[in-house]
Amino acid sequence: MRLIVAPDRASAAKLTADIIERFVKSTAPAVLGIATGATMEEPLAEVVRRHRRGAFSLARTEIYLLDEYIGLEPGGRDTFRSAVDRRFVSRTDVPAAAVHSPDPHATDLGAECDRYEQEVRGAQIGLQLLGIGTNGHIAFNEPGSALDGTTRVVELSEQTRTDNARFFAGRTEPPTTAITQGIATILAARELLLVACGPSKACALARAIEGPVTEMIPASALQLHPNATVIADPSAASELASASAVHESPFDVPMTSGVENQ
Ligand code: GLP
Repeated sequence: MRLIVAPDRASAAKLTADIIERFVKSTAPAVLGIATGATMEEPLAEVVRRHRRGAFSLARTEIYLLDEYIGLEPGGRDTFRSAVDRRFVSRTDVPAAAVHSPDPHATDLGAECDRYEQEVRGAQIGLQLLGIGTNGHIAFNEPGSALDGTTRVVELSEQTRTDNARFFAGRTEPPTTAITQGIATILAARELLLVACGPSKACALARAIEGPVTEMIPASALQLHPNATVIADPSAASELASASAVHESPFDVPMTSGVENQ
């Protein structure tokens, strides 16, 4: 695993955008897995700004979402799909047909999960962006999720529903269930990039990076991946014993742990 502690949250967003930019420029089609959530807003906004300045095109990018709530109004603004369309796709030249997500309104959700799993595996994600929940979740793989789990319907933990209530702002209660890629699905991506900002992520991040690989901290599964990078701001990195250096570039930081080094 490669750990990058950025000088601040804005720098973390820029370093994340650097990695996305390099990926999009170097691969065609660039199959990009996107996480939703507040952490990704600024990195994706930075990618949009660079694209609009003419730095690169996203016309040959395919987008795959990690997860989606069940039970929201189709196309409603609180769905992850709408958020990605609104904040990213509609502001770039990513073709609308190049955006893929699980359908939470399918009549047979089990079959839909199997379909999306096959679609994601067939596409072979090149770069998968990830956030981390305060309880250590990745996508909606809550504590206790099997490390070999695939795309499925899950119950959201009370912690996650409380954390995400801010996005619904009283319009509706956060849903209780969702479709999520499984940990095995996520680990099948060629490269993982997890971004963590803010003090609320410090405990989960330390356990994910420096603790044992355990189903109780789903993000600890990144330790099993040969090409996983974590970008943290200083507050998210504050409980890490190993985070001594602050980095200005994502490309000169060596791998320090993970299967490659064992
Ligand atoms: C959410 C999403 C994840 C996201 C994570 C962190 O619940 N399911 O995909 O990355 O939790 O969210 P945030 O960045 O808002 O803290």
